[in-house]
Amino acid sequence: MPTPTDPGATTPGDRAGGATAAAAGHATRGTAPIIEFRDVEKRFGDNVVLKDLNFHVNKGERVTLIGPSGSGKTTILRLVMTLEEATDGMILIDGDPLTHRIEGGKRVRLSNKEIKKTRTRIGMVFQQFNLFPNMTVIQNITESPIHVLGQSKDEARAKAKDLLHKVGLDDKADAHPSSLSGGQQQRVAIARALAMDPEILLLDEVTSALDPEIVDEVLGILRNIADTTDITMLIVTHEMQFARDVSDRVLMFDGGAIVEDADPHTMFTAPTHDRTKKFLRAVLGEGQIGTR
Ligand SMILES: Nc1ncnc2c1ncn2[C@@H]1O[C@H](COP(=O)(O)OP(=O)(O)O)[C@@H](O)[C@H]1O
Ligand SMILES: [Mg+2]
Repeated sequence: MPTPTDPGATTPGDRAGGATAAAAGHATRGTAPIIEFRDVEKRFGDNVVLKDLNFHVNKGERVTLIGPSGSGKTTILRLVMTLEEATDGMILIDGDPLTHRIEGGKRVRLSNKEIKKTRTRIGMVFQQFNLFPNMTVIQNITESPIHVLGQSKDEARAKAKDLLHKVGLDDKADAHPSSLSGGQQQRVAIARALAMDPEILLLDEVTSALDPEIVDEVLGILRNIADTTDITMLIVTHEMQFARDVSDRVLMFDGGAIVEDADPHTMFTAPTHDRTKKFLRAVLGEGQIGTR
């Protein structure tokens, strides 16, 4: 994690030093959990969405969550992003409590300052882009680096320009989101998340709102991030070919619980559980994995 004033702050791609370092990152996967759910419960009123959920994601791992609508996938990502807080249990980031710690058997909420500090290590991209409509593209990207990380305007702009190049939008720095296509807006949202140099990137159905012909270009950018960085990725997607290609592990959810936890090859070719088989049949049809 670069410090706010670190002049050497680089793009995530640079940080990993290209494919060789990324490969080294793969080799060290499995050593330490960076996300850990311990007996997490999340309820909205009487609706218990997650109950005693336990799982972890190791540093550098790419884990995809699949499962039917309403199974709790978005809720899990929003909990990690601290957009929601668990109603019981604990989430740890790199061994440290995210929003609540257990103290003398009691669950105690952390201070907002402590929570914010951890949140800066995590980035999220949403299905609906969620760009600030009143800001230009470059203002969208530099807002948090300047105001949260304390980067200078020049430093933040230079980095934003690099990222815009990376996502193929060199000429859109001064455009407003409303003048961009959905695919372009989503590429800005990806650049905005990367500008914070996140250790964890959360992707919630980021291609679901896009026209089919645009989906591949956005997935291509995400594949590139996966190939050239060591960022831990927690992904929700219906793009099963993409999930199969980039994931180290796939978790099948139903009713807020993990039904199956497997490597992508096993999950997509020889799932164990009937619930998984039924879900994959519905998503993929009778054929093999999608054509993408
Ligand atoms: N803000 C909310 N208020 C009330 N219920 C919610 C809220 N967010 C999600 N839920 C409920 O939580 C359950 C899981 O939703 P979600 O995490 O969005 O599932 P998924 O992303 O797998 O489709 C659903 O029953 C949904 O209605
Ligand atoms: Mg969802």
